[in-house]
Amino acid sequence: MSAVNAGSGSRNPGDSGEPAILIEHAVKQYGSFTAVNDVSFSVGTGETLGLLGSNGAGKSTLIRMITTLVPLTSGRIRLHGVDVSVNPDRARLSIGVIPQAMTSDVDLSIEENLSIYAKLYGVPRAERRKTIPRLLELVNLADRRNSLVGSLSGGMRRRVEIARGLVHYPQILILDEPTTGLDPVSRTDVWEMLTTIKRERQLTILVTTHYMDEADRLCDRIAIMEKGRLVALDTPFALKQAVPGSRASTTLDDVFVHFSGRELVS
Ligand SMILES: Nc1ncnc2c1ncn2[C@@H]1O[C@H](COP(=O)(O)OP(=O)(O)OP(=O)(O)O)[C@@H](O)[C@H]1O
Ligand SMILES: [Mg+2]
Repeated sequence: MSAVNAGSGSRNPGDSGEPAILIEHAVKQYGSFTAVNDVSFSVGTGETLGLLGSNGAGKSTLIRMITTLVPLTSGRIRLHGVDVSVNPDRARLSIGVIPQAMTSDVDLSIEENLSIYAKLYGVPRAERRKTIPRLLELVNLADRRNSLVGSLSGGMRRRVEIARGLVHYPQILILDEPTTGLDPVSRTDVWEMLTTIKRERQLTILVTTHYMDEADRLCDRIAIMEKGRLVALDTPFALKQAVPGSRASTTLDDVFVHFSGRELVS
């Protein structure tokens, strides 16, 4: 079996046939350093794809290219058929982004943080009034809507940012290490919320994480990057089977060590 099965997973029968995310030979160079080196894969509509890799593997750089924040050096990325380099404004409308660093405004309330974002995206007032309370329910923060974000725990703040990323009804949600730094209970909360939101909104999710157990339980497929390159991509089950001497007890940690040649660093 090939380590990289770069075709998309599930597709909606009704869609255009374009995967939600299509990455073809994406390269990002900073001077002579290649942060992302000829990466190609696609994410099917409704699929949850986990992107794993050691520190510095190129995950955030790839996400920045997908989300139009840095230009590609070469290659092509299309979101539901829209090229991020040719039509970045349209591409941006189809994605909700939760970046690695927390970016919500600590001096504003939870509701104000969501409201400002919704206005930025041009969500009409009547729509904002319906969507924001529903999102706050989804992330279990309805009763805290007037609390200042600066007064929240890390887990709650993450949930605010996930809700904020959804105010404009994106089709694709992209999360860069949403659970790093959270305690185990908050981590579980965030993933449960993502599962509920995904069911309700029929989202495509691309998520990076250093937690193999999370990725194993929650992702349809796993991509592993190492030194800018894609070194493996398949279902968790298939990846485990590809590890030499694999047994029922083989874990995604074993998969990661096998394909990246490294231990995990979080
Ligand atoms: N603006 C930049 N200029 C120069 N080098 C950069 C820049 N951004 C990222 N890099 C380098 O590109 C490589 C990939 O970084 P990136 O942040 O994408 O890794 P990552 O997989 O997200 O790591 P982590 O798990 O630590 O978040 C690193 O060596 C980083 O130092
Ligand atoms: Mg990163």
